[in-house]
Amino acid sequence: MKIQGVSHRSIEIIPGRKTVRILDQTVLPHALEWRELAGLADVVEAIKTMRVRGAPLIGATAAFGCFFALRDDPGDDMVARAYTELLATRPTAVNLRWALDRIRRVVVSQPPGARAEAAWAEAGAISEEDVRTNQAIGAHGLALLRGAARRKAPGSGPLQIMTHCNAGWLGCVDWGTALAPIYQAHDAGLEVHVWVSETRPRGQGASLTAWELGQHNVPHTLVVDNEAGHLAQRGLVDLMIVGADRVTARGDAANKIGTYLKALAARAHHLPFYVALPVSTIDWTMTDGIRDIPIEQRSGREVTHVAGIAGDGRREEVLITPAGTVARNDAFDVTPAEVITGLVTEHGVFEASAAGLGQLAEALGRTRPGTATT
Ligand code: MRU
Repeated sequence: MKIQGVSHRSIEIIPGRKTVRILDQTVLPHALEWRELAGLADVVEAIKTMRVRGAPLIGATAAFGCFFALRDDPGDDMVARAYTELLATRPTAVNLRWALDRIRRVVVSQPPGARAEAAWAEAGAISEEDVRTNQAIGAHGLALLRGAARRKAPGSGPLQIMTHCNAGWLGCVDWGTALAPIYQAHDAGLEVHVWVSETRPRGQGASLTAWELGQHNVPHTLVVDNEAGHLAQRGLVDLMIVGADRVTARGDAANKIGTYLKALAARAHHLPFYVALPVSTIDWTMTDGIRDIPIEQRSGREVTHVAGIAGDGRREEVLITPAGTVARNDAFDVTPAEVITGLVTEHGVFEASAAGLGQLAEALGRTRPGTATT
C-alpha cells in the first residue's frame, strides 16, 4: 500500500542487507518513523510494546526474530530460547505460534551452520505469502461487498461499512485482512464509506485505520466505539467487517475488545457481520473460544491515560480519571460463531461453524478439525 503515493510494506527488508525495518506504529499517525530491527531483543521489544501489532504482522516479525537469534548463535538452545521468548511476547494472536512453528520445523532439520540462512528464507517466504494471502482475502471480500451494494436501494449512496481496530496493511505485511476488500472495492470504483471506530484504549482505529484509509483516499468517518448500535439502528450501516487474532475450529473469533458488541449490534439489526482472516489465524486445536482463547491483559494505565500530540507538537500523555482509579484492560474479546455471518479467508468465504471450518480443512487437505495439532 502507499504512503504519500509511495508503495511500502509494514515490514521491509533493507536492500542489500540481511536486516529489516518496521514502521513504528506507536508514533503513527503523528510521525513516520522507520526502525531497524537488528537482534532478537529488538524484535521482542517491538512486539511487546506494539511498535508492530496485528496478528499476521506479529507472526512475520517474529519469524525474522528467529533469524537474528540464529545468526548470532545457531545452537539447539538458541532455537528453543528464541521460540520461547518470542511466543511469550503476546498471548492472543495465534499467528505468532504458527510462524514460530514454521521456522522451527525448517531449522531443526538443518545443521547449525545452515540454520540462520534457512530461517531468513522462511521468514521472507512468510512475508511474501502474507501479501498474496491478503490479496486473495480482498478478492473474496470484494465479491461480498459487491453483493451488498447490489442489494442497496438505488440512489441510497455509498455502501456503508463499519470496521473496528486496525485490520489493514499495518496489521499485516500488506493489504490487510478486513480492509483488503475495502481497498479493492474502492480501486474497482465501488462507492464505499467506512465507519472507523476509535478502538479504546489504544486507539488503533483513530490512529492507524483512519490514517491508512486516508492515505488511500477511501472515504471514512471516525466514530467513538459506542456509536455502533446507534448507527446500525438508524440504518446507517450496511455491513460490518473486522479482522481476527484467533479463530477456533468451530468459528469463535477473538479480536480487539469491542468486536463482540459490534457483532451483537449487527445481529440485532439483521446486518451481515464478517470476520476476515488468513488460515494462519485458525487454531485448529481449539473449539470453545470463549473458554479457551487466552485473552491478553494489558496495563490499566492504557485506560486511565490518553496520549496524543499537544498544540506545540510534543507527544503528551494525560490522566483522565481520579488519581489511583483501578482499571481493567482486556485487550481482546471473543465473538461466538453463531453471530458471525461468514469467515472471509484466502480460500473463499466459509460458514463460522464446525461444518464450515470442516469444509475449509478439507479444501486445505487437512484432517478434520480436532484431530490435527498444528
Ligand atoms: O492489539 P492489536 O492492535 O495487535 O490487535 C489487532 C487486532 O485485533 C486486529 O483486528 C487483528 O490482529 C487482525 S490484523 C489484520
